[in-house]
Amino acid sequence: MIKAFLFDLDGVIVETAIFHYQAWRQMANDLGFDISEQFNEGLKGISRMESLDLILKHGGIELSEDKKLELAAKKNENYLSLVSKMTPDDILPGITDFLKQIKQTDIKIGLGSVSKNAKMILKSVGLLQEFDTIIDGTKILRSKPDPEVFLKGAAELGFSPDECIVFEDAVAGVESGKRAGMKVVGIGKPEVLTKADIVLAGFEGLDLNVLLNQI
Ligand code: BG6
Ligand code: MG
Repeated sequence: MIKAFLFDLDGVIVETAIFHYQAWRQMANDLGFDISEQFNEGLKGISRMESLDLILKHGGIELSEDKKLELAAKKNENYLSLVSKMTPDDILPGITDFLKQIKQTDIKIGLGSVSKNAKMILKSVGLLQEFDTIIDGTKILRSKPDPEVFLKGAAELGFSPDECIVFEDAVAGVESGKRAGMKVVGIGKPEVLTKADIVLAGFEGLDLNVLLNQI
C-alpha cells in the first residue's frame, strides 16, 4: 500500500539542472578548463561542495578549503541570479496536474532534495504549500546516493520505506531511493536511469492510478 510520494526537486519539479550547469561551467571556465554536459550528468543529486570537489578533480586543480568555500559561494550567487527569475511557468509539464490528482487521495507528498535552495525555489514557483514534508540540504548530513534524504522524508511522514515511491531524474538519486528500500520512478531516459523500477519521460498526461498499477 503506497502512502507517500517523495519528489526530488531539480529536474523533477523544475528544470534547474541547466542553471547549475551554467554556473559551474562559468566557474570551471574562469579556472581555465571546461565541463561537458555528460560530466554534468554525474553532478545531479550531488551536494554543492561534493560537486565542487568533483569539478576541481576533473580540472586537475587543488585548492585550499577557504578558496573552495569562496568559489562555492560565488557559484551559488550566480546560480541564484539565474533561478530567482523563476515563476509558476517554470514548473515542469504535468507536475501541477499530477499533484492535483494526488491531493484527491490519502497519499502524502514529500520533497527529498539535497539542495539548500529548495524552499526558496518552491516558493518562487508557488508550490511550497503543496508539500506535507520538505527534506532539503539543510536537514541532511549525507548527499545522494546516500539514502538519508528519503529515509528522513518517510520517517517525518510516519511511513515505512516500502510505503513510499520516489521520483528522481538523477543516477545518484535513483540509487538513493533504491538504497532506502523504496520503489523509484525515474524521470528521464531508461538507458541512463538503469536502476529505476520504471522510467518515464515526464509527468505530462500521467494518470496516478495507471502508475500505481504499473509499479
Ligand atoms: C541537487 C542538484 O538537487 O542539489 C545538484 O541536482 C546540486 O546539482 C544540489 O548540486 C545542491 O544544490 P544547492 O542548491 O544547495 O547548491
Ligand atoms: Mg534532480
